[in-house]
Amino acid sequence: MPEKNAIQATNIFSVMSALAVQYKAINLAQGFPDFAIDERLAKLLYEAVQENFNQYAPMPGLSILREAIADDFKMRYSVFIKPDAEITITPGATYGIYTCLASILKPDDEVIVLEPAYDSYIPNIESLGCKPVPVSLSMPSFRVDWQRVRAAITQKTRAIIINTPHNPTGSIWQNEDWNELANMVRDSSIIVVSDEVYEQLVFDHARHYSVLEHKELRNRSFAIFSFGKVFNNTGWKVGYVIAPEFLTNGFRKLHQYLSFSVNTPAQYALAKYLTISDRPKVGELMQAKRDYFLSLMADLPFTMHRKSTGSYFQTMSYEQISNLPDIEFAEWLTKNYGVATIPLSPFYADRTDSKMVRFCFAKKEETLLRAVERLTALKDI
Ligand SMILES: Cc1ncc(COP(=O)(O)O)c(C=O)c1O
Repeated sequence: MPEKNAIQATNIFSVMSALAVQYKAINLAQGFPDFAIDERLAKLLYEAVQENFNQYAPMPGLSILREAIADDFKMRYSVFIKPDAEITITPGATYGIYTCLASILKPDDEVIVLEPAYDSYIPNIESLGCKPVPVSLSMPSFRVDWQRVRAAITQKTRAIIINTPHNPTGSIWQNEDWNELANMVRDSSIIVVSDEVYEQLVFDHARHYSVLEHKELRNRSFAIFSFGKVFNNTGWKVGYVIAPEFLTNGFRKLHQYLSFSVNTPAQYALAKYLTISDRPKVGELMQAKRDYFLSLMADLPFTMHRKSTGSYFQTMSYEQISNLPDIEFAEWLTKNYGVATIPLSPFYADRTDSKMVRFCFAKKEETLLRAVERLTALKDI
């Protein structure tokens, strides 16, 4: 049996959120918005139930939703995706990532994971009897060190997981990163699993480059998305996976027995919502939140090594405040200052402690203000 060291009984997000409740702390830890969703989306969910979209959806997802997604990608990325053969609706992105991996891996395969990494990747790989091969991003830029990635490839490498915009660092991939990746995998059978759940949340006129835009890589890639992250309804747990037909077929073989289908009223509502052209500009709204948060934090003794250019998150180091290990620091901050954050070490297989925590700024202005007011007392220590 493989060792399952990386699989923690309770992950850090649940631990910190529970601590936030226990100490009545403001939760800037877990990545979920605390503000309302667009009222039109809420009404569409109600409409779906009234219209009796209440029974099982087809296994790959409602066709109106898959068609709306294909139209959306044609408009936003000028890429053409076959809704029937290449899009599968999933109960969230985490499920999508696991099912992608399960559909391509066999025991003892190796999967390259760029760290810090979203915490489901490594337990997913290990639970399939495979070996995660962590490769650290360069600090403090959090860019990929391609030499290190190349050195990690072996005959057993079957996949590489990419995440852009990146949780927890807010860094994003440039087009040249995709070109580097294409050069690296060209003569191999490595499959790319591209987690793009924050794709619309990019800032400062930056642009998200999707693996789907890369003509060569697209033929060997799964791209995974989450409506929850871009429409602020994480609790709906609806996402989708886009992949070429041969990969989609393998994916669906498992999906039909794991979940079979996904919440029908939510799919109906999301399909109709995608056809509304004046939806809120989610990237601009999230950038305003980042800017507001950073302006509040400017005088505090946290150090920002790299400004977030995408996602819900900003990482900062706390070395001017404390030399506690990061998990203890996050607990101390929650208990004594009433603000919950996420320490970065759980994003590393070897629990590298870079004395950094992650703040989630996908919150109402008043939440951010109240949190930073509490942290202001740190100036005096
Ligand atoms: C990088 C990354 N991938 C996937 C997910 C999960 O998305 P979902 O809620 O749709 O499962 C998250 C959520 O925090 C994430 O940060």
